[in-house]
Amino acid sequence: MKILIVGSGGREHAIAWSVARSPKAEKIYCAPGNAGIEEIAECVPIKAMEFEKLADFAQQEKIDLTIIGMDDPLVGGVVDVFEERGLRVFGPRKNAAILEGSKAFSKDLMKKYHIPTAAYENFTDPEAALEYLRTQARFPIVLKADGLALGKGVLICGTLEEAEDGVKEIMEDKKFGSAGNTMVIEEFMTGREVSVLSFVDGKTIKTMTSAQDHKRAGDGDTGLNTGGMGTFSPSPFYTEEIDAYCQKYIYQPTVDAMAAEGRPFQGIIFFGLMLTEDGPKVLEYNARFGDPETQVVLPRMKNDILEVMEACVDGTLDQIRLEFEPDAAVCVVLASDGYPVKYEKGIPIQGFENFQGREGYYCFHAGTARKDGQIVTNGGRVLGITAKGKDLKEARKNAYEATNWITFANKYMRHDIGKAIDEA
Ligand code: AMP
Ligand code: GLY
Repeated sequence: MKILIVGSGGREHAIAWSVARSPKAEKIYCAPGNAGIEEIAECVPIKAMEFEKLADFAQQEKIDLTIIGMDDPLVGGVVDVFEERGLRVFGPRKNAAILEGSKAFSKDLMKKYHIPTAAYENFTDPEAALEYLRTQARFPIVLKADGLALGKGVLICGTLEEAEDGVKEIMEDKKFGSAGNTMVIEEFMTGREVSVLSFVDGKTIKTMTSAQDHKRAGDGDTGLNTGGMGTFSPSPFYTEEIDAYCQKYIYQPTVDAMAAEGRPFQGIIFFGLMLTEDGPKVLEYNARFGDPETQVVLPRMKNDILEVMEACVDGTLDQIRLEFEPDAAVCVVLASDGYPVKYEKGIPIQGFENFQGREGYYCFHAGTARKDGQIVTNGGRVLGITAKGKDLKEARKNAYEATNWITFANKYMRHDIGKAIDEA
């Protein structure tokens, strides 16, 4: 098969790595890709939002399957453009990607189909939002811009004053652009967070092994929210009992709800869950693999990823049995100092050769580029260093050891990825 992967981050590198292991993969392209993906795929300079150009390329090169890694093109309808031309593509159509593209939509869906989530109200008028906030007795309270905002559109407000400022930022100053035309105000939940990614074919859902992300920039969950500074898998807090509950009350009901709404979902549903005292509740849905969750989940998957993805496209996922290694994996993100606010790019990176021939160690590229024959930093999140181990503790030790193999002048990382496992 000839495969095209759309995206340029660590997630797409992990997807490309997984596809490259498939005996079915003959040739892999990635648009636009990065300096690490380049080693296993031919990178083509087409941007993820250039739908017609991507489809032209897929047609010219007779691509058998295109895999969309990123949220923006999915929410923008890239899958519809491919399908109109009769091209095979893995990912939800625009009318299903709205599960991630509109938080107001997803909250209303959960309410209508009784899927457990935080209590909420949607607002399109800032005055109405402010009035509602003034009737609320419980703080913190959570404000969410409806649309895509690079994972930054969520404000946790400790007081009424903060929440009033938040409404202004989101709805009036449009800090997140049109994503803030509608806003969700929801109840603040406490508990452990867990990410569960799943393959979906429109009717059947098969969940992957669990993972946990670390969203804040600094050790001890301090600092600003980021795209994710590191992950571990599996989550020791995600027990079989919790899984059984989620399968019954969250996962299948979500897939059924989308089908009932005339929005059959094909692709990946990423469930962001909060394990609260009252049971698991949905924090958010994403319509794609998580980044950096993918970097710890796919290295543990035993299946041929192309077989599973084709089953999703063909509607035969019920015939697939997903299997994961009984081991564990930890990913530590090496970022540019100053991320997510301001940081330098173009800095040379050394040490990639240390990963060669080391089984169970992976250096996934997130923001890298090639300049004058050298690999340099090209983003806030630069590399995802993943290592496996027989259990989480060993995987964490291995991953942190491997972070020492790479050097670049403004290298920054968290030192407590997976610390929670000590409490498990
Ligand atoms: P989201 O983009 O919806 O996943 O939100 C980003 C982060 O904000 C989540 O990973 C949580 O840590 C936090 N968050 C979102 N919604 C809530 C909530 N209702 N209660 C507590 N924390 C939340
Ligand atoms: N790691 C969180 C996300 O991909 O949205």
